[in-house]
Amino acid sequence: MIIAPSLLAADHARFGRETVRASRSGADWLHLDIMDGHFVPNISFGPEVVRAVRPLTKLFFDVHLMCSRPQILLEPFGQAGADEIIIHVELGEQVPALVWKIKSLGKKVGLAVNPPTPLSLALPHLEKIDLLLVMTVNPGFGGQPFIHECLPKIQQAAAWRREKNLSYRISVDGGVSFQTAAECARAGADTFVSGTTLFGRPGMKAAVKKMRRSVHDASAAPPR
Ligand code: DX5
Ligand code: ZN
Repeated sequence: MIIAPSLLAADHARFGRETVRASRSGADWLHLDIMDGHFVPNISFGPEVVRAVRPLTKLFFDVHLMCSRPQILLEPFGQAGADEIIIHVELGEQVPALVWKIKSLGKKVGLAVNPPTPLSLALPHLEKIDLLLVMTVNPGFGGQPFIHECLPKIQQAAAWRREKNLSYRISVDGGVSFQTAAECARAGADTFVSGTTLFGRPGMKAAVKKMRRSVHDASAAPPR
């Protein structure tokens, strides 16, 4: 399992210290949400922030581009220190070229699917990706409630992975709490992005441990 705190929920006046806090929390990855004010109705931060915090940790940088024109951002984020770059399936026919470009930069590639978007749009790309991100809120803001209607998509993603003998990770992002992380784990998720629940409290180490325990117990429990 991978636990990935989202820097969006950090104190934006202290990105450096917050990155170090995540690094010492026992988390596996750092999730970095990039918003362009167009694909989503909010703006977060750019490659310079990623570059600035890169030397502060060895954590894997999972860069989530919620952007209408990711083609102009792949190289900047790649050079800034992304280990994986996630683009959205809603970009339609641009997706194959973007996937190819991310791979050519030597980065892992993720594909995200928004709540209203059918998961079937990801089908043609499954063999080429390292991670499928099932959005469990409409992207743009942290702290939103988890959308339970997205759970069947996780089950479908897991079923395709088995049937097609593929190995992409199944990640969830949005409203992931101790409780909803367990529900996602039962549905088949293995990668848990969480902002408010992890960054939002002073004891991040305890929160990461609690989420890990919650996912572990849910995964060990018989399916229901
Ligand atoms: C949603 C972002 C998420 C967000 C999750 O637009 O993609 O990564 O930071 O934050 P929480 O866990 O607060 O919903
Ligand atoms: Zn995200």
